[in-house]
Amino acid sequence: MVLGSGLGRLVERIEDPVSVEFGELPGFPRTGVTGHAGRFVLGRMAGVEVLIQSGRFHVYEGHSPAVVAAPVRTAAELGARDLILTCAAGGVDATLDPGAIVLIDDHLDLMFRSTLAGPARSGEPRFPDMSAPYDRRLAELALEVAQDAGIPLRRGVYAAVAGPSYETAAEIRMLRSLGADVVGMSTVPEVLAARSAGLRCLGLSLVTNKATGLSAAVLSHLEVVETGRVAGRAMSTLVEGIVGRLAGSAHSTAAK
Ligand code: HPA
Repeated sequence: MVLGSGLGRLVERIEDPVSVEFGELPGFPRTGVTGHAGRFVLGRMAGVEVLIQSGRFHVYEGHSPAVVAAPVRTAAELGARDLILTCAAGGVDATLDPGAIVLIDDHLDLMFRSTLAGPARSGEPRFPDMSAPYDRRLAELALEVAQDAGIPLRRGVYAAVAGPSYETAAEIRMLRSLGADVVGMSTVPEVLAARSAGLRCLGLSLVTNKATGLSAAVLSHLEVVETGRVAGRAMSTLVEGIVGRLAGSAHSTAAK
C-alpha cells in the first residue's frame, strides 16, 4: 500500500508495526519533501498482513525511474499480490471539489520517463499490456466499501505529469480535452512497475485542490498536504474497509 502526500495517518491504524526508514535500506535514497515520511511499515490492518509504503520517491526530485519503482518492486519480491496506491491530485473535472475521492479507472502517462525503460527484468514482459492497469475486482470492492460507508467515490482518469511546477491553466484545458479527470505527479510510475511484476493495482486519488484555472486560488504544496490531512479521514476509512474485505475475498491475504 502506498500512501501519498498528507495521507500518512493510515500508518497509525497498523497493529504490531515494524518500521524501516527508506534511508536505512541499501539502494534507497532519503526522502526530502515535506509531507513524505519515507518508510516501510509492516504489520496488520483489519486482520490482514500489510506492508505500507509511507511516502514515495518522485520523478520531480530527480530520482531515476528505478529508484521511484524500488519500493513497489521490493513489495512484489516480498510476496505482495495486491497494491493499493493513494495519491493527492488536482481536480481537472470542474465538478471535483477538494476532499473528493476518485477511483482511478485508467491513466494518461504524460511523464515520458517510464520505470520500465532499460534492460528487461527477468521474469517480466518486455512490452507489458496496459489495457487494464487497475484491477476490476479491486475497483468493485472499493465501490462496495464506499457505498456501505457512505463515502462518495467516482471513477476517473488520472493524468500523470512529471512536475514539479503545477500546471498552467492552458495545460489543464489540454488535459481535460485528453480525457483527464484528475492530475498528479506520482502513481503511474509505480503502477507500471507493479503491473510488470504481476501485482493487482487499485488507485485512489484524493482531490486536494481544483486544478489551475478552475478556481481563483493559487496552488501551494503546504495547502495540498493540509487538505490531504483534513480530508484524509474518509480515505483512511475506505482503505481500511477495502483491506478488511480482501481478507474475505478470493484475493490473496496480503494487501500491500
Ligand atoms: N497538479 C499536480 N499534482 C497535484 C495537484 C495538482 O493540481 N494537486 C496535488 N497534486
